[in-house]
Amino acid sequence: MNPTKLFSPDFVLGKTFLLGRAVGGAMGLVVRRPSARSWRVARLALQVTPRYTMVAPNRLAALYDIVQQANALELVGDIVECGTWHGGSAAIMAAACRDDDWLDRRSFWLFDSFQGLPAPGEQDGMNERRRFFPGWCTGDMARVQQIMVAHGVSPDRLHIGAGWFEQTLPTAAVEQIAALHIDVDWYASVKTVLHAFYDKVVPGGFIVFDDYGQWPGCRTAVQEFLQRVGVMDQAIVRPTKSSAYVRKPTTPNRSLSSRAP
Ligand SMILES: C[S@@+](CC[C@H](N)C(=O)[O-])C[C@H]1O[C@@H](n2cnc3c(N)ncnc32)[C@H](O)[C@@H]1O
Repeated sequence: MNPTKLFSPDFVLGKTFLLGRAVGGAMGLVVRRPSARSWRVARLALQVTPRYTMVAPNRLAALYDIVQQANALELVGDIVECGTWHGGSAAIMAAACRDDDWLDRRSFWLFDSFQGLPAPGEQDGMNERRRFFPGWCTGDMARVQQIMVAHGVSPDRLHIGAGWFEQTLPTAAVEQIAALHIDVDWYASVKTVLHAFYDKVVPGGFIVFDDYGQWPGCRTAVQEFLQRVGVMDQAIVRPTKSSAYVRKPTTPNRSLSSRAP
């Protein structure tokens, strides 16, 4: 059997690994910065792992902070996630809004194939292409609904787009985005999301890349795209070893529509 399959989050060994990492990671959060806030985020991380998320606690903590920054800055717009799987990272963003009393000012737009990852392409590297198997990371829409509602999101503020991004994103009715979380692993998927949604991110809005330090194709896609819209590499913030984020410039650089492909 393909060892990637055995250790992937869809299988028992992978889930056991995620749980162990979550316990260690949650303890790390509290030990490094002992505070009520760290306890809160550590508890949230343990509530959603491994049943709802494969994202490590330090990345969940960074995501929680970013959404709270968007709220503190009173950025208008919704929370969008591409790459939702079972809904855990989206639930952390909902928890950040609930803790700020912002749940009635944001809608949540969550997109996933719910059929697993598409196959990696040339830019994703030989190793990733060798390890890939169809159905890797198959999400579950019912679990997403369950965990979002459990975190206080009202059903009329929850929009789940099921299907391949190429089909679902261009017709999505989302208008303004305060925070966009991109957790889609591969080069082509990252590019598709940025092309569909960059222009909808409000000035000063946050774009978070979960896999920037982990998957080479993601990093390449982000760098190519940011160069194209005139956002400098130095603008990329690295709150953790894997994740990264940028804020959309408040004075317009270039919008996608104003540039040739
Ligand atoms: C790493 S998982 C997301 C993990 C999730 N954020 C969590 O909290 O655990 C990546 C997800 O991206 C989705 N995905 C990647 N590329 C896609 C595409 N082109 N269209 C639709 N879904 C895609 C996969 O189905 C998979 O569920």
